[in-house]
Amino acid sequence: MRPRAREDERGISPSGREGDTLPAVAEILMGVTGGIAAYKSLDVLRILQRHGHGVSVVMTHTAERFVGSASFAALSGREVGTHLFGDAGQPGYHHLDVTGGKDLMLIAPASANTMSQMATGAANSLLTSCYLAFRGPVVVAPAMNTAMWLHPATARTIETLRADGVHLVDPDTGLLADGAVGPGRLAEPAVIVAAVEAALAGTAAVKDMAGVRVLISAGGTREPIDAVRYVGNHSSGRMGWALAAAAYDRGAEVVVVQANVDLPRQPGIRYVNAPTAREMRDACRAEFTSSDLLLMCAAVADYRPVAAAGGKMDKAEAESLTVALERTTDILAELAALRDDQVLIGFAVEHGPDGLGRARAKRDRKAVDIVVHNDAAVAGAAFGGPDNIITIIGPGEAEIALPRMSKRACAEHILDAARPLVPARTVSA
Ligand code: C5P
Repeated sequence: MRPRAREDERGISPSGREGDTLPAVAEILMGVTGGIAAYKSLDVLRILQRHGHGVSVVMTHTAERFVGSASFAALSGREVGTHLFGDAGQPGYHHLDVTGGKDLMLIAPASANTMSQMATGAANSLLTSCYLAFRGPVVVAPAMNTAMWLHPATARTIETLRADGVHLVDPDTGLLADGAVGPGRLAEPAVIVAAVEAALAGTAAVKDMAGVRVLISAGGTREPIDAVRYVGNHSSGRMGWALAAAAYDRGAEVVVVQANVDLPRQPGIRYVNAPTAREMRDACRAEFTSSDLLLMCAAVADYRPVAAAGGKMDKAEAESLTVALERTTDILAELAALRDDQVLIGFAVEHGPDGLGRARAKRDRKAVDIVVHNDAAVAGAAFGGPDNIITIIGPGEAEIALPRMSKRACAEHILDAARPLVPARTVSA
């Protein structure tokens, strides 16, 4: 896949959705099966093309009875595959030639018949042979009459396809070609395209960070009061983990300096344990010189007990206890002062009104390129959960406020903002 220009000069993305994540331009193999909805595939094709994707079409013989292959050939500007090599004495295609170089396979509309062949592994048409031979993500948009859709055999097929990792685009409920009203109508073309682009984003086939050395701090430090107690925070490490996975999938070399994160570790990523602010500072300093991009996502304690008591402090008779705290080193500010040509990104969890202003001021004070703001007062943002609501402040005056989305999607946006700042020398691809 080729990365695509994200926005035109008006700041509007090619999909018309302002500020949206756009997957790279992809090569899509579109399968069309027999059904009255086949004509809607022409719209799907057109939208995919408008979004910059290349589309090659394969059709089943039944599909050709609904829409001529010439229509798809004219719109796609490419030959349309209908016959397997040698099939019916026609000039045919070899399925491996058809699937080669494709990033995703879409089947829309998908008939009950074709889906059941896919579920059983039959390869009796060019389309089903392509499906079996294809190794990338597959999106299937079923369309059929309500009785067929509701038949237990179809339900079994759908269950099998889902289990095989196929992305299903559920059919709509509405007026069908036979006059009945019920589920089975092909999903709207725009919905199908959105599913395709979501599946493409999940493949992260864009290796635009190949050769970039990324250092990520994640989790929350714990500053010991004694051998069993600490001063800590609610950071789960999920945002840092999402950044690490996204950077890794984009081809980066990733090191995660982690504090108290209890999440599964990913092969291919290097992890350094740094449970306290002091250890995190040491680990980050050690890794920083050989990094190109620092994402300082960890919630590092600003204060720590001056001296941790040895052993477990006894509960005294006194009604209160005062623990003297001292400032920790601001790791991000320190590394910014030491930087060679590294790109630095900080995170600012702010609470309530004017948080954005404070986050921007933080960016300037710490002399970093970007600060990612989130508002701890808003439900769904910040600590613990799977989602986040962030505003990316910088570089320069840029400010991108994003709606609530998964931390992985947030990570992709943050990397999109950071990537152009990383010096070109690190790009090996
Ligand atoms: O100033 P504040 O602590 O809110 O800034 C948050 C940013 O600074 C985060 O990126 C955090 O990882 C980083 N930080 C740091 N060292 C500290 C405290 C915060 O690097 N001691």
